[in-house]
Amino acid sequence: MSETHPTGPASDSAPRSLAADSLVVSLGRPPHETDAPVNPSITLSSTFVGTGGPGAGEKGYARFTNPTWDPLEEALGTLEQAELPALVFSSGMAAIAAALSLLPRDATLVMPQHSYSGSLSIVQDLHTRAGLITRHVDVADTDATAEALQGADMLWIESPTNPMLEVADVPALIEAAHAAGALVVVDNTFATPLLANPLVDGADVVVHSATKYLGGHSDVLMGAVVVSDAGLRKRLLGYRTLHGAIPGPFETWLTLRGLRTLAVRLERSQATALRLAEALEDHPAIERVRYPGLPADPGHARAAAQMRGFGSIVSVEVDPAWVGAVGDDDGAAADVVVSHLSLVTPATSVGGVESLAERRRRHAAEAATVPANLIRFSLGIENADDVVADVLAALAAARAPERAVKA
Ligand SMILES: Cc1ncc(COP(=O)(O)O)c(C=O)c1O
Repeated sequence: MSETHPTGPASDSAPRSLAADSLVVSLGRPPHETDAPVNPSITLSSTFVGTGGPGAGEKGYARFTNPTWDPLEEALGTLEQAELPALVFSSGMAAIAAALSLLPRDATLVMPQHSYSGSLSIVQDLHTRAGLITRHVDVADTDATAEALQGADMLWIESPTNPMLEVADVPALIEAAHAAGALVVVDNTFATPLLANPLVDGADVVVHSATKYLGGHSDVLMGAVVVSDAGLRKRLLGYRTLHGAIPGPFETWLTLRGLRTLAVRLERSQATALRLAEALEDHPAIERVRYPGLPADPGHARAAAQMRGFGSIVSVEVDPAWVGAVGDDDGAAADVVVSHLSLVTPATSVGGVESLAERRRRHAAEAATVPANLIRFSLGIENADDVVADVLAALAAARAPERAVKA
């Protein structure tokens, strides 16, 4: 997180290297001029004055552009070390749809089998409507993924994956995809620009659900696409303008405000994630902990080599016997544990200041290979002792009476 980036704040005329935790605070601010506001303003206008004649104004209409977007787009572009400002969208899914619009007709896509369920659903929809072929891969298996890339048009990477937290060899896969002539899109939502910058490794497109860590307060939906190639940006801007999935000015402003604290939120939530993972690693109620920060995790060495931290999401598989689950209903056992949480909120989503927990297979769209007893924890910024105690108390409360006697 102490990584320095080559570009200074947009408002600073003398470029210099600032650490990323300074950039999140300083990017996208008005220039330091007497009486200038410290924060950018919100422009609430659906249209802009102009006659269409020479020198008559270029903005036109607020589906084309809005000055409120500029500071956030510049900030996200700089944080991802892109050559160009980001493009903001009304949600992460809108950003994903825009990235997928780069595919030709009857295209072939290679995608992790454990991608975010919305991403899996949208490619299924594109299969039905537009003949998209998707090859689902274990993205942690570099050889298998490289093999699947032959003849493909696009490689989609999530790393760590949602919710299995598998870690891809991102630089190696980008190289393999380019060798096969495929465009590379990385969903960098879980890593955030503070932990990984796939464009630096050669990825063509980075997408974010800014709803998660960038906004950070579970009060706004927002997405972003970041590229370094002017031709790609033009196509994506054209898509956004035409399809209209633009973010509202208030949402844009709130996301930039949330971004200010990204570094401190992440530092704290990652520390809590490691604490929770360690507390559950040898717990008798837990069959498996998935967290790349644990040395025993299969993705640990790779994540340590290519990320600047391990993230704030921990997935665990509950032993159904601990809860006294009857038959094969592993999901019910995890549901019992979630129902006993008190400080940690049972809710979908990740990346907010409040810790959340969710059994992912409660969603029909989740990949069937995600274990039914998997609970995904998104750690927030509460006191770590309180969070760990809450989870341990929920496990104790969920314990079946006969197990309690034996234990
Ligand atoms: C990794 C990832 N990408 C994209 C999305 C979609 O973002 P949004 O909910 O903002 O549309 C999500 C949402 O959970 C996600 O987890």
